[in-house]
Amino acid sequence: MRIDILTLFPEMFEGVLGSSILGKAKEKGIVDFHVTNFREFSESKHGTVDDTPYGGGGGMVLKPEPLFRAVEAVTAEAKPRVILMCPQGKPYRQKLAEELAREEHLVFICGHYEGYDERIRQYLVTDEISIGDYVLTGGELAAMVVIDSVVRLQPGALGNESSAVEDSFTTGLLEHPHYTRPAEFRGWKVPDILLSGHHANIVRWRMKESLRRTKERRPDLLAAMEMTEDMQKLLRE
Ligand code: ADE
Repeated sequence: MRIDILTLFPEMFEGVLGSSILGKAKEKGIVDFHVTNFREFSESKHGTVDDTPYGGGGGMVLKPEPLFRAVEAVTAEAKPRVILMCPQGKPYRQKLAEELAREEHLVFICGHYEGYDERIRQYLVTDEISIGDYVLTGGELAAMVVIDSVVRLQPGALGNESSAVEDSFTTGLLEHPHYTRPAEFRGWKVPDILLSGHHANIVRWRMKESLRRTKERRPDLLAAMEMTEDMQKLLRE
């Protein structure tokens, strides 16, 4: 998979793309990152990328030319998804991460200004994504969130293949509690069932805890999923 990032602050990506799972995915050749400062595509000799809005008002608006030229420079004949990170976008969910993870090439546009010239949204971008109902100073952190969630879904990116399948939101439920040694820490004990070695009981306990936690913390997720009879029974126990 190839991921292009168009930003005015390429240095923001250095640590994130080079570390941990993303850095390893790159080393393994699973993903290829290209970070481009779209100021290089400005048509002015001063590298101007924004201008005042037609109709007046405060703030600056990103001009169309540099971004169109930057996207055209990183895309060949094939048309990749061109993703604009912005608070007005579609709310980001695991389902969209799974959809994007199946693409060969993604282009992310990250802006830091008041707005984008509307022609960028209309004629250049294929997807507008928001990572939540709050306003960040720019799209970079939001793009990192999306990139991280997409890259970890690539086959071979996680050491343990089962971990992506068992994730919260992939199963539709929040994860059950996890414990490791010691069996007792400052008087707080690991539930006996996890030490019992009885696999079927452990699976059942984990499912029950997942359901309980989801009901308590995210009843909206539970309402949206189809519950088997067994799950309903576990939840009543
Ligand atoms: N840019 C600024 N705020 C954002 C948000 N919440 N999601 C995506 N991009 C953004």
